[in-house]
Amino acid sequence: MNNDIEKIILSEDDIKNICVKLGKQITNDYKDTLPIFVGLLKGCAPFAMELFKNITIPCELDFMAVSSYYMANSTGNVYIKKDLDRDISNRDIILVEDIVDTGATLKTITEMLKARGCKSIEVVTLLDKPEGRKVCFTPKYIGATVPNEFIVGFGLDYNELYRNLPYVGILKKEIYTR
Ligand code: IMP
Ligand code: MG
Repeated sequence: MNNDIEKIILSEDDIKNICVKLGKQITNDYKDTLPIFVGLLKGCAPFAMELFKNITIPCELDFMAVSSYYMANSTGNVYIKKDLDRDISNRDIILVEDIVDTGATLKTITEMLKARGCKSIEVVTLLDKPEGRKVCFTPKYIGATVPNEFIVGFGLDYNELYRNLPYVGILKKEIYTR
């Protein structure tokens, strides 16, 4: 697996430090609100767990699994494979994502959850790829900004592989162009 990586972008230590920093910030911003962290499976899993260790206020954890379809002239068609377990009306929601690329998935989910009556909704993402943006969407909490390359590791996959790498790196082009 390691041989398929062009360049490491975030080491294990970098990721730990990012999660400490984001955890402190979110802990501070959500005092006395009992927020619900909603992880978007499967990519969020390692990041959600590392971040969650650094949240020191009472909070809940839930997950959603969605898949996005990209059609001509329309972005953000999202199919829900696993929905939330509980009602979110009047609750503060923090969506946990691995990477924001086009922004279509998060924009759609954010609007969907707002329509269910949550009190507030923000996004924390480990990675942001602003050059990939197709819809206007800015996550509130960003771990690191990455170049417009194919990124894998720490939850991010290529064909379901590489999610278990403990770091984040750029996948060699020869892996996905052959
Ligand atoms: P988007 O922002 O709607 O384009 O969707 C973001 C989703 O696309 C992420 O949650 C990832 O699952 C996937 N994705 C986008 N860019 C990458 C990448 O560089 N590597 C792996 N998955 C990616
Ligand atoms: Mg994802």
